[in-house]
Amino acid sequence: MSKIKVALAGVGNTASAVVQSPYYYRGKDETSLGGYKVSDVEFVAAFDVNRNKVGKDLSEAIFAEPNITPKFADVDKTGVKVSCGPVLDGVAKHMENIIKPLRKGCSLEEAVEIVKGADVLLSLLPVGSEKATRFYAEVALKAGVAFINTIPAFIASDGSWGKKFKEANLPILGDDVKGQIGATVLHRTLVRLFKLRNVEVIETYQLNVGGNTDFQNMMDENRLVSKRESKTKAVTSVLPYDIGVRIGPSDYVPFLGNTKVAFIYVKGQSYAGFPVTLDVKLSVDDKSMFAYSAMDATRLAKVALDRGESGPINEVCAFYFKHPPVQAASDEEAAEWIKAWLAKKPDILIKM
Ligand SMILES: NC(=O)c1ccc[n+]([C@@H]2O[C@H](COP(=O)([O-])OP(=O)(O)OC[C@H]3O[C@@H](n4cnc5c(N)ncnc54)[C@H](O)[C@@H]3O)[C@@H](O)[C@H]2O)c1
Repeated sequence: MSKIKVALAGVGNTASAVVQSPYYYRGKDETSLGGYKVSDVEFVAAFDVNRNKVGKDLSEAIFAEPNITPKFADVDKTGVKVSCGPVLDGVAKHMENIIKPLRKGCSLEEAVEIVKGADVLLSLLPVGSEKATRFYAEVALKAGVAFINTIPAFIASDGSWGKKFKEANLPILGDDVKGQIGATVLHRTLVRLFKLRNVEVIETYQLNVGGNTDFQNMMDENRLVSKRESKTKAVTSVLPYDIGVRIGPSDYVPFLGNTKVAFIYVKGQSYAGFPVTLDVKLSVDDKSMFAYSAMDATRLAKVALDRGESGPINEVCAFYFKHPPVQAASDEEAAEWIKAWLAKKPDILIKM
């Protein structure tokens, strides 16, 4: 199998986990997905706006401040210098003295030239980057590469963008990565258990705290509209009725670093009207949870490219993203969709 050439928009903590992944798995006995291994991924371009990162080799930029993802693999010098993208709405006001953005970002045409030759453009921008996400989606379209939107800006799940990628004969995956054992997949599973056992869910919350720039950025409630919608719909879509619900990032706790702590509460009414209350606390390394899904999505985007499939790949989006174009009733169902999609012949389309 050939290599998968990846360009990155954003070189933050998730990018660090993603870039280290192929080096971590190199020489290890890995399982392949769609014929590709994690170690088949290589990085050919990267954009950021942070003056500590722009101009550096990607292997150094991933460890530059304010990134805190620890080193878990020896990353070779990549020969990829981080290019300066346009800031647009990528940096919140309260983050300016932390990101220290350069204001001399490249034009759309320059970005397209930098990305040309890649297979996939992976967007890892901060929450609230609506304009910047559309900028990089446009870059992918013009450069002729697949686009993966890992953040809660609605692109893959927006019909008009899906159509643009379909017409350009390019796949698109998104939106908002669902981590390996993240709060969303756990919350969906708990609510589904209530449903399976005929316990009526009355109300639920999921409060998340963490200590990296992702959580610091999300202290601005104005940037959270799509994040709350994405996380909330991922859970409420499991139930056929309305419930009391509050879901989203809730505070920045600096000493937690990349550890995300999620507090999940579900209250239901069971047999003969008696109450059932569930309280669960999940503690995970948020960036490794992310890298698992991002590396799988990257490999499956390449499979779609190889097969000449285009537009949103619904089967893949439903398993790896919180806000896909088509939401599966359960994560088991989404896994079955992917199996069927991988098994199908290139010329047979599955109707869902
Ligand atoms: N489990 C997870 O970590 C998880 C799950 C789902 C979604 N996400 C999303 O992934 C995204 C990235 O998370 P992160 O932890 O890497 O955040 P981060 O703050 O560490 O990194 C974001 C990077 O983007 C850069 N940036 C800002 N504006 C830019 C622009 N216009 N062009 C290019 N680069 C720009 C920043 O300088 C920074 O390096 C966030 O939106 C996050 O919510 C993460």
